[in-house]
Amino acid sequence: MVVRIKIGLATQDASKAVKRGDLIIVIDVLRASTSIITSLANGAKSVTPTKTLEEANQLHNENPDYLLVGEREDYMPKEFDLGNSPASLTRERLEGKNLIMTTTNGTRALVKSKESRWVMVGAFLNAKAVAEKTVEIASKNGTDISFVLAGEKNHFSLEDFVCAGAITERFPRNTTEPSDKTVAALLAFKGAKHNLLESVLKSKHAQTLTNIGFTKDVEFSCQLDIYNIVPFYHDGKIQVFP
Ligand code: MLT
Repeated sequence: MVVRIKIGLATQDASKAVKRGDLIIVIDVLRASTSIITSLANGAKSVTPTKTLEEANQLHNENPDYLLVGEREDYMPKEFDLGNSPASLTRERLEGKNLIMTTTNGTRALVKSKESRWVMVGAFLNAKAVAEKTVEIASKNGTDISFVLAGEKNHFSLEDFVCAGAITERFPRNTTEPSDKTVAALLAFKGAKHNLLESVLKSKHAQTLTNIGFTKDVEFSCQLDIYNIVPFYHDGKIQVFP
């Protein structure tokens, strides 16, 4: 069965994808998806995303051994254990730990997608793995695939769109039927991939991160296919798809 591929260009499109019963790939390259993938690749057991700081703190009161991770206005909130810099999410700090994560856009997009049976997390880091696994699941279950781009406060983000193109390029041949918007993302990626970092640095969010000293996070986030894992959001928690 050929799987149709669609793109929701901002967080508010998640509900449409949920209503259609699509498998959802949530993308927030800078930096929530990149951080979630890195945490799980470095041995974290689970990541529980929350929309608000209050929910994160409440959950932490109930589970004091969990680590609090995330950002507001790009910086680590007061009394959190770690910010949202993927390079700081090392095996040393995370192995065997459960995380509670809240970020401005990425965890919001995830929570908005949670009613879908299948919600995966994608970024450049795991583009190939997520492309292969999602097509396999979608074909088996007779669903389509929707990208939900976290964007920035409900606005379109260049880096998330280009990443949707990278994943689209990696869908196995002749298995998918991309919408025109998805083809546009693919063309954007094909134009960007020869110097991915330079292209991503043209985005508003990358410029903000660079201006406040987080250039390394942008560099880290632009690595393609370095992890072979697919984070799966199910029953409130994100874990590596078995
Ligand atoms: C977000 O969810 O808005 C991002 O991950 C923000 C960031 O940490 O750069």
